[in-house]
Amino acid sequence: MHLSIRRLYKTFDEFVALDRISLDVGEHEFVCLLGPSGCGKTTLLRIIAGLMPFDGGSLMLGETDLAAMPARARGFGIVFQSYSLFPNMTVAENIGYGLKIRQEASDAIQTRVEALLAMIKMPQLADRYLHQLSGGQQQRVAIARALAVDPALLLLDEPLSALDARVRVEMRTEIRDVQRRLGIPTIMVTHDQEEALSLADTIVCMNQGRIEQIGTPQDLYLRPRTRFVADFVGQSNILSAEWIAEASPAHLEERPTEGVHELCVRPEEIRLSPGGDAQVIDVSFLGNVTRVRVAWRGRELVAETPGLADFAAGATVGVAFGRGAWVRA
Ligand SMILES: Nc1ncnc2c1ncn2[C@@H]1O[C@H](COP(=O)(O)OP(=O)(O)OP(=O)(O)O)[C@@H](O)[C@H]1O
Ligand SMILES: [Mg+2]
Repeated sequence: MHLSIRRLYKTFDEFVALDRISLDVGEHEFVCLLGPSGCGKTTLLRIIAGLMPFDGGSLMLGETDLAAMPARARGFGIVFQSYSLFPNMTVAENIGYGLKIRQEASDAIQTRVEALLAMIKMPQLADRYLHQLSGGQQQRVAIARALAVDPALLLLDEPLSALDARVRVEMRTEIRDVQRRLGIPTIMVTHDQEEALSLADTIVCMNQGRIEQIGTPQDLYLRPRTRFVADFVGQSNILSAEWIAEASPAHLEERPTEGVHELCVRPEEIRLSPGGDAQVIDVSFLGNVTRVRVAWRGRELVAETPGLADFAAGATVGVAFGRGAWVRA
């Protein structure tokens, strides 16, 4: 079933936390909410979950108006920033909790819990209590518990934040696979743009209670519409029309447009060659790419090349531009 949010409005006293948010989440869609701290991501998720009232707009799941429906009746799977597991229950009891509430048969519950324990790679930890688990393990239990009830909608608020980089990548693949297999519409909040780019069908980029842009990962990366999105999603060089007119980069195909627009050029679209009129400021090796900052015609540019760069700080290099995208300043 399809979630439809229209002009959702939420204030805390005078403060506008959500400013007329409109968003659709399709039946099998994986949506990531991406945005800086305080932009309203958790507030939006809590409202969808039914844990917080809102002041205006509408929230529908298929033909059902969710505004009138209590959280419990919505049947959503929820994993919050603080995992809110039950401390007096074992791992297995936590995961099976929702099924027990529904009075499912105990052997069916056990089978399901075992499958989920295998999925989160904690088959031996079924009888542990929360205080005997690491933060990352607790997070995985919370995810398993949310999935146990075959939720109509999965709401995840930074579910991977306590995991180390390696397990995090593993778990996100896991979440994505399960989500695909079960076809559950999912909304996941993340700070991590790489996570959003790699997981989402659709990314919703938020800023100060508003939606800046909704699109596929490719849309947001290759065709950001605003300076905020260009800056927030990935690295970028934001070039003003004035600078482009003055510096007139030789290879740049984009011509300046009127005042309010700026050109976003991604670091991999700036290519450096030995000998030229730019000077290398510094070089950082990041593993898969090398990031090179250069000074050229009165500004600083960031370039990235796969593998090692042939330049050291202080070297002179030539600069060639690939494609860019015009964004609203
Ligand atoms: N109960 C509340 N009362 C008053 N203000 C609140 C309340 N809950 C949230 N806010 C404010 O609303 C704004 C949005 O908060 P929210 O928790 O949704 O941000 P977020 O995008 O989830 O941030 P983070 O990435 O840090 O988790 C913040 O400025 C926050 O201070
Ligand atoms: Mg939050």
